[in-house]
Formats: sequence, C-alpha cells, structure tokens
Amino acid sequence: MSNTTKPLLNRYQTFNFGHTHPVIKGNVDVSHGTVLYMEDVSVSFDGFKALNNLSLYINDGELRCLIGPNGAGKTTLMDVITGKTKADSGSVYFGQTIDLQQLDEAAIAQAGICRKFQKPSVFEKLTVFENLELSLKADKGAWVTLFATLNGEQRDRIDEVLEIIGMTSLRFQLAGILSHGQKQWLEIGMLLMQDPQVMLVDEPVAGMTHQEIDRTAELLLSLQGKHSVVVVEHDMAFVRSIANKVTVLHEGSVLMEGTMDEVQNDPRVIQVYLGE
Ligand SMILES: Nc1ncnc2c1ncn2[C@@H]1O[C@H](COP(=O)(O)OP(=O)(O)OP(=O)(O)O)[C@@H](O)[C@H]1O
Ligand SMILES: [Mg+2]
Repeated sequence: MSNTTKPLLNRYQTFNFGHTHPVIKGNVDVSHGTVLYMEDVSVSFDGFKALNNLSLYINDGELRCLIGPNGAGKTTLMDVITGKTKADSGSVYFGQTIDLQQLDEAAIAQAGICRKFQKPSVFEKLTVFENLELSLKADKGAWVTLFATLNGEQRDRIDEVLEIIGMTSLRFQLAGILSHGQKQWLEIGMLLMQDPQVMLVDEPVAGMTHQEIDRTAELLLSLQGKHSVVVVEHDMAFVRSIANKVTVLHEGSVLMEGTMDEVQNDPRVIQVYLGE
C-alpha cells in the first residue's frame, strides 16, 4: 500500500530546477511522465493553514480522484493550481519547466489548465452548439462575434466534442432548458473546446440523478489518456466507478494515496472521513 507522507518522486531531487521557458500551449515538458507537481505547498488564511506542506504529483493523462472531509483543502488546492490563490510557500509546476506561480490565472488557462466549477455556467439563451462555438472563439483570444463564420476544422471540432459529451442530438436545443446533468456535460464540452491538457473538476455529480452520475463517470473515464483529469467528489459510489488512484486530503495535507479499496480500508481514512 502506498503509505502517507512523501511520494518517492521529488522534483527538486530528480530534475534541474529553475529553467522556466515561455509558455506555449501544447509545449509542456512531460518527459518524466508528470504533468503537475505540487511540492511542500502551504496556504494560510488568517493564520489557518488550508494547505499544509502538501505534495502531490499528477501523471500525464491520468484520472485522479481527490477526496477528503469538508475543509480538507481540496478546492484550495485547485485554486492554487489555477492561480486564483497564491501559495505562501512551496512550488507548483506544470510539467518540468512551467512555474505556475509566475503566471496569472489567464496565462495558466491559456497554457492548458482549465477548471470546471461546481455550478454550471452555460449561456442559457444560446443553443448547445452556440455555447461550444463561443468557447472555441473565446480561446482565440479575440472577441469574435457569434456570427463570424466557422471554418471546417472548427465545425469538425464542435461535432467531435458533441459526440464526446453525448449531446449530438441536442445541438440545437437552448441551453436554458437542459437538465442539470446536461448543463454540466455541456460545460465540460465547453472546456474541451479549448483542448486543455489538464482539467480540474470540482464536485461534478452534486445534484445529479443516478443515470446522470453514471453518464458523467463514462464521460470522465473517456477523457483520460488524452487529458489529465483531477476530480474532487464526495460521492463515494461515483468515485469508486471512476477511480484508479485516489488521494485523500486531510487538514491541508495528503493523508494517503492508493486504490479505492486501499483507501476505504485505511483506518485513518475511516476515522477522519468515511466513518462520519
Ligand atoms: N478565501 C478564503 N478565506 C478564508 N478561508 C478560506 C478561504 N478559502 C478556503 N478557506 C478555508 O480553508 C479551508 C479549506 O477549504 P476548502 O474550500 O479548500 O476545503 P474543501 O476540501 O474544498 O472542502 P469541501 O469538501 O467542503 O468543498 C476551510 O477551512 C475554509 O474555510
Ligand atoms: Mg471544496
């Protein structure tokens, strides 16, 4: 069983440190297999340590589940990766060379790390297709009107994403009348339009029906390999259905990492979280 404390991999020990390159999307050095490094990261809010010397390593293309009690620091961890919150200490790297602490939120998103918040934020008055179209254009950096013509390649990409999120037949539906689950999938689709290398997904199945939860599991599983996905969720049945490696956070640190079975049978995890 992979035990508490430090993962074996340690960026400082293994690799040259401090060679930052200009960030070009899709040009992230994952030659060591790791796409995200967080090392000894601490964040305090008024003296309270939301993250406490946290170290976490995400492999390129993996689907990682992050669980832990309320207040464990899961959302704060995502805030640090995406640049919304600055760490007080420690390092946060995208691949070998991109120091995320040197970049602002927009640059981090541009570099290929995107985030899905809990509440879906689709444009209700636009169709499913138009929502996807808009995120494609937003990615181009300039504000292009919705009526600018799409080229063939862009249309193909929208079709491809519609297929991935299972909403091809709903392409002309107004987003405002979609079910909660469909809105969540559409928003995942909107993120996919930007072809992110890393997707951070916070509590995706809250408020969903059982069928919607199953469909979300399939969707997230289908993304691994092509994208690295970090999923935070409290729904343990859902986590089990997608889990490969699970990281348990507690009081701002990694309590343990392992398979779902290892995690669910760990006395410490039962005590601080599952036994609640
Ligand atoms: N901006 C902030 N200002 C002050 N305290 C904060 C802030 N953001 C988070 N915290 C505190 O940091 C701790 C970690 O919060 P965080 O939201 O990361 O937990 P979480 O693991 O996502 O919990 P949950 O499962 O409830 O979503 C909590 O005690 C929270 O109150
Ligand atoms: Mg949270």
